[in-house]
Amino acid sequence: MMRTASCGQLNIRAIDREVTLAGWVDTYRDHGELIFVDLRDRWGVTQVVFSASEYPEVHKQAKSLRSEYVIQIRGRVRKRPEGTINTKLLTGEIEVLALNLEVLNASPTPPFELGETGVNEELRLKYRFIDLRRKDMVESLTFRYRVSKIVRDYLDHQQFLEIETPYLTKSTPEGARDFLVPSRLTPHTFYALPQSPQLFKQLLMVAGYDRYYQLARCFRDEDLRKDRQPEHTQIDMEMSFVEEEDVMNVVEGMVVEVMEKAKGIRMERPFRRLPYEEAMERFGSDKPDLRFGMELCDLSQTFEGCEFKIFNSCLQAKGKIRGICFPVPERVVFSRKDFDDLTEWIQTFGAKGLAWLKVLAPDKVESPIQKFFDEKTIKEVIQKLGAKAGDILFMVASDPKVSAVALGALRVHLAEKFNLIDKQRMEILWVKDFPLLEWNEDEQRFQSLHHPFTSPKPEDLPLLDKDPGKVRARAYDLVLNGTEIGGGSIRIHRKDIQQKVFEVLKIGEEEAQLKFGFLLKALSYGAPPHGGIALGLDRIIAILLGRESIRDVIAFPKTQKGTCLMTDAPSGVDARQLKELHIALKK
Ligand code: AMO
Repeated sequence: MMRTASCGQLNIRAIDREVTLAGWVDTYRDHGELIFVDLRDRWGVTQVVFSASEYPEVHKQAKSLRSEYVIQIRGRVRKRPEGTINTKLLTGEIEVLALNLEVLNASPTPPFELGETGVNEELRLKYRFIDLRRKDMVESLTFRYRVSKIVRDYLDHQQFLEIETPYLTKSTPEGARDFLVPSRLTPHTFYALPQSPQLFKQLLMVAGYDRYYQLARCFRDEDLRKDRQPEHTQIDMEMSFVEEEDVMNVVEGMVVEVMEKAKGIRMERPFRRLPYEEAMERFGSDKPDLRFGMELCDLSQTFEGCEFKIFNSCLQAKGKIRGICFPVPERVVFSRKDFDDLTEWIQTFGAKGLAWLKVLAPDKVESPIQKFFDEKTIKEVIQKLGAKAGDILFMVASDPKVSAVALGALRVHLAEKFNLIDKQRMEILWVKDFPLLEWNEDEQRFQSLHHPFTSPKPEDLPLLDKDPGKVRARAYDLVLNGTEIGGGSIRIHRKDIQQKVFEVLKIGEEEAQLKFGFLLKALSYGAPPHGGIALGLDRIIAILLGRESIRDVIAFPKTQKGTCLMTDAPSGVDARQLKELHIALKK
């Protein structure tokens, strides 16, 4: 046996036992007569002592040890001397006196210390096999496994079957670019890696495999951010003979169980439900963070007929003036430059400008534009936004969507920058009643807000022809602390309606046959009403652990540029491989 215990296991009950341990040298301290080594594996650390007076040969041998050497020791467990007990460690009351040492492998000096904080992320990713030895990475991957296990157990109890679906497949549109894989056996053709198992899970419902799930890897070639990776993992589910509330119920049960078992957090059910329209009106976002206030307020009526030209022409053009009230924290002073910076920043959201009023009293403000407003208007604005002296009111006049989205972004920006968010709070909600379609100005056509297989609300079906932008979808998103952690819908299960939606999306009959012929065929062969959802596992784990980026909860993630710094993927390939694939590269 290479070891009789792990490095995180031994305690006072093992005193006087002879044990064999194996692991990595975490720390090495030479105190002359005694050498101390903290021996580490993924379960913990155990202090090993090499004593010159008791075992001189072994002590001599230990002098060659360095950080990250892999060693095996045989030794005797003993109580640590008084004053050296470490109550923070499970093994903190004991140490192992080494009787024998074997160096199983040496290591050069690691590129960074495992205990070091603030190590450059590129270096960590390049040496990921060392980075993964760090305690918080072990914690995050262990936690991730635990959550997956809770999810699997829960779904198993709910009679779900885990079924794998192909990676080499045809494109499924989820709004991103596909990763393509050239086929050698059928020259000049390509597989697409799945952006999600969407169509396969629907086909499983047609086939009668009611209650499918899969912890599925999804591949999307999109611009990466801290909560987006080119390959991410979904808890992907689909059920037959269900309506929205059935799916939401199963998911709530699962989330409650994960929160309770993995984090010890009790969550109230049912989760809050917010219609999309209301979420946009109140928070300027379809994934509102409810951990803080600063709700948006429509001030259009108040400013009607005012003398400020920008506001006036906005209202005439059927735009909206919305505002938020920022409770300026104590000791924070806003300078002219701060306002200018925010004005520049908010333009990235399409707003042309940012108006602001510093509140001095319930009827008094300070602002470069105050001269355009009468006392009644000022009073009404202050009252509508519930502002008090010291607060700053920000306003954006623009088309209805831009004014909401821009202020919604400002709301989050200010809350994050000035620490207005209670990080201990968990605020979860469903956003529902999304529009089915959104207008794509560049392409001059409607596109799906979720994906083209989302069912319209039956009562809105007549609008598909008359006013497609008004059709609401049977879709729902799950939002946790301002992050979309899941999205799903009741699907279209009738071929004629699916064809109709393709038509509205300007997907011609020929294109529909070419891309989705198999789905249309399946829908005509007895497709049951069905619906489902997919939750982003990486995002959930990152939020529950309070990690900044999902890269910190994935064993081998890619950089923002989609590269793997450890393996150097993506990389060039042999000319021979390309030839077999009938591919010629352009210079
Ligand atoms: P959707 O595209 O909304 O739905 O994805 C579901 C959830 O997956 C997570 N997610 C991501 N996480 C990390 N990196 C990414 N690049 C990434 N993209 C998405 C999000 C998101 O809420 N087939 C549908 C689901 C369905 O309709 O059942 C789908 O994939 O948390």
